[in-house]
Amino acid sequence: MLLIHHREDTFVDAKIQLRDVVKIFGRQPRGRPLEMLKQGASNGEVRDETGHVVGVSGVSLDIQQGEVFVVMGLSGSGKSTLIRCINRIHEVTDGEVLIDDEDITQVSVERLRQIRRQKTAMVFQHFALFPHKTVVENAGYGLKVQAVEPSERRERAMDALDLVGLAEWGDRYPHNLSGGMQQRVGLARALATDPDILLMDEAFSALDPLIRREMQNELLTLQQRVKKTIVFITHDLNEALRVGSRVMIMKEGRAVQVGTPTEIVTEPEDQYVADFMADVDHAKVLPASFVMQQATTASPSTSVADLSDEVDEHGAVFIIDDEGRPIGLLRPPDLRSGAGTVQEVMSDDVPKARDTAAIATLFQLSGDGHHVAIVDEEGRLLGAVSPLDILATLGEVEVVDDPQSEVPA
Ligand SMILES: Nc1ncnc2c1ncn2[C@@H]1O[C@H](COP(=O)(O)OP(=O)(O)OP(=O)(O)O)[C@@H](O)[C@H]1O
Ligand SMILES: [Mg+2]
Repeated sequence: MLLIHHREDTFVDAKIQLRDVVKIFGRQPRGRPLEMLKQGASNGEVRDETGHVVGVSGVSLDIQQGEVFVVMGLSGSGKSTLIRCINRIHEVTDGEVLIDDEDITQVSVERLRQIRRQKTAMVFQHFALFPHKTVVENAGYGLKVQAVEPSERRERAMDALDLVGLAEWGDRYPHNLSGGMQQRVGLARALATDPDILLMDEAFSALDPLIRREMQNELLTLQQRVKKTIVFITHDLNEALRVGSRVMIMKEGRAVQVGTPTEIVTEPEDQYVADFMADVDHAKVLPASFVMQQATTASPSTSVADLSDEVDEHGAVFIIDDEGRPIGLLRPPDLRSGAGTVQEVMSDDVPKARDTAAIATLFQLSGDGHHVAIVDEEGRLLGAVSPLDILATLGEVEVVDDPQSEVPA
């Protein structure tokens, strides 16, 4: 039996709330077009009868403080429209958009400006760097717009460049930078204003695959430090599953499914989502916690004789210290001596992986027939994955071609 452990929900409160958000493009969206949508008309019917285009149709969701919320969907499904409703670049046709419980669709122009300045920043796929300004001036541009003094501006822009790994490049010019580095300047520009919310619309899509992956990693590392609330649009499923704490799949302006990467992959709501997931390499997406079983444990002072039945039955017993951290592994060959304490005969080379590690990384660790200890952030034992568990899930989990090359350092 598989134990399914969903990633612990550490989020506390909703940063952004959408309530039945509708965005229709055209001259008089709030009349007949909205009425038709509310009566259940399709986007095509609205277009045919009224000439209006439905961008977003009745989306409700809570985005939690500190999460990377990914929006995915085919071209034209309404991703950009939705993200632009969040900072009111688009006026919504109907519904509410709350940031920190304040409905931004109702605030004054002055207040909106303030909210945008203090709370949100956008990063796009192609954003222009000023060629004749230095990198640090480019990174500080958002601050300049906010009339922040030059000395403070430089300091904050340098801090932001440091966050994206470009501290050394502040006084160079954009043409000195590679495409990936230029994209980082865009990210630094957004971070320099220290917004609570980052709205990223296909921000990495123009980068070549290696740089793109590097940026994804960097975003995740960065996120651990700065804990922004990030709304991240992408076309790329693997990117979505890698960076997202939750993923929303959109179709024709509607939210088809919202869930953790694991939920989306293993429990697709409908055929549309299932088709999306068809190409997913499960082993790279599903976390170790998805296949882990309860581990059998004992303390180092237990006598070997007392454990022989358990070792035989389970194939392995994990020896843990007082904090619950695995410090040894006892397997059938270790029982040969038959006497003494566990400490004397156990192997202290315990293969370990984090609960969040992709299953693909376990293949190698368990390659020699070893059980792998699954540990939490503090190194405490959460469960175990036996080579058999992995084999048993092979039906659901595709083995990567060359697991050796897939194991991160
Ligand atoms: N300013 C606009 N005026 C009229 N229609 C628009 C406008 N912006 C978007 N649309 C329409 O709204 C729908 C959703 O578009 P949107 O740009 O949000 O999709 P998307 O998911 O971001 O697509 P892509 O992946 O290509 O960026 C599309 O039918 C699009 O043609
Ligand atoms: Mg778009």
